Amino acid sequence: MIKDNTVNPVIALQEQICTLEIENEQLKRFIEIEKKIGGERNIDQLLPLIMTEISKFLDADRSTLFLLNWEGMELWAKFAQGLEACNISIKMKMGIVGVSVLTKQIINVANAYEDPRFNAEIDEITGFKTQSILAAPILDNGNEVIGAIELLNKKSGLFTKEDEHKVKEHTLNFSETGLINRPDKSQAEALVSEIRETTQCQRGSLFLIDQHQGELFTIASDGLGAKDIRLSINLGIAGLVAMTGKSLNIPDAYADSRFDMSTDQITGYRTHCILCVPVKNQNGEVLGVIEAMNKKNDIFTDADAEYLEALSSGIAIALENAMLFQEQDRQFKSILEVMAASIDAKDPLTAGHSENVTQYAVGIADELGFGEIEQDILGVAALLHDYGKLGIDDYILKKPGRLTAKEYECIKQHVVITRDILNKMHFSRQYRNVPFIAAYHHERLDGSGYLEGLKSEEIPFMTKIIAVADVFEALTSERHYRDALPAERAFEILEQDSGTMYDASVVAALKKYWYRQQGQDRIQH
Ligand SMILES: [Fe+2]
Repeated sequence: MIKDNTVNPVIALQEQICTLEIENEQLKRFIEIEKKIGGERNIDQLLPLIMTEISKFLDADRSTLFLLNWEGMELWAKFAQGLEACNISIKMKMGIVGVSVLTKQIINVANAYEDPRFNAEIDEITGFKTQSILAAPILDNGNEVIGAIELLNKKSGLFTKEDEHKVKEHTLNFSETGLINRPDKSQAEALVSEIRETTQCQRGSLFLIDQHQGELFTIASDGLGAKDIRLSINLGIAGLVAMTGKSLNIPDAYADSRFDMSTDQITGYRTHCILCVPVKNQNGEVLGVIEAMNKKNDIFTDADAEYLEALSSGIAIALENAMLFQEQDRQFKSILEVMAASIDAKDPLTAGHSENVTQYAVGIADELGFGEIEQDILGVAALLHDYGKLGIDDYILKKPGRLTAKEYECIKQHVVITRDILNKMHFSRQYRNVPFIAAYHHERLDGSGYLEGLKSEEIPFMTKIIAVADVFEALTSERHYRDALPAERAFEILEQDSGTMYDASVVAALKKYWYRQQGQDRIQH
């Protein structure tokens, strides 16, 4: 029999309709989830809700959200279904989830106990029997890993390729909500571009309200004729939505007297239809608006409006988090500056030591490929490393000659005072290890340092960086007891003790950084 290779058009059409129906069902389900999530403003409640929804969506028995702690090289279970007191932390290199984080890949395992990478420790704690696992990294905009999602035991069979795709989409949503990450402009841009694709419009924009100027300004826009613009809040559809807090779906802009044509006149763009929804915070205050323009070959539907409204809740949380974060960050950094200035005030000769050590430490970290967040943590610890000198008598700190054994014992105490004072400060989230990173800066790899005589692997890597930056700064600056040494001589001293006292890779990175800086200075002058 001759096989008929021609495609039956009726069957093809039926298949197409079927695919569309499935996609439509998925979109509906997604909107439903986003709505549920959007309605919940309390972040502590929100994470469990998201995780429960993801489990349901992927038909998994359990799911866990891990956040990455770079300094401790650990993954913390932020939320684990079925575990009320969720205090699990695992070493970054451990388990399937660890592999997923390190490789930035989704890992799909059919039978956990047959996989050598599987870490059965959590099962032992919880009494749960893991079978199948789907683990996915959560990446931020800079493609840095910030955590991971782990789904356990698919109820109906094994996790599929399609599940991998779905979990990838969801982990993207995670970072976009700003719940566990700082939102920024590129994140807003990704959202707007997603809006444009989903609603099939020509242009999408996210506007924020500038209360002082009484204006709306774009923080992200995408598509045809997209430009960063500022509009008066008293004008046009976007202004009206911002003022009233109510969505507007305008099928024919030029036939609507509320539409302001001046932007079209400036940009040369022809607006046909507009869908505009407010972005409100939990008190119902409007923070901004999302605007979609010119649906391709059509007008916007109620489903488009529902989709934008569902998204706007997530955007509001991200915006509020961003504003709150900026405010807190400003306050935190100003406290640090005051603290650093107070160490400087004690001794004009060593003034600037903490800032210089910070600059070198961050320079080393940059050479070694540290990310922005790690550089920030290191910078804070470096700035405060000698804070305890405030508690040391001036006559010892400023003594021109050699210190007696008793005076040396006394000066050693500055690290204890640094640790004790910093331990009393509240360091939030990522900065929580700052006190001990700062306080161990006189420890040496071979255990010859003080205060505890820690050895190589017991000293945090960030501390090893501060130690090298500290010694280099001290050697190349004038002291009460000696003149400044040239950088070349300081490197000789550091290199002599590389591998025994100082980490060789850190010394090499400082040298690279230093000569690069010198080269740049020479070019500039
Ligand atoms: Fe010190």
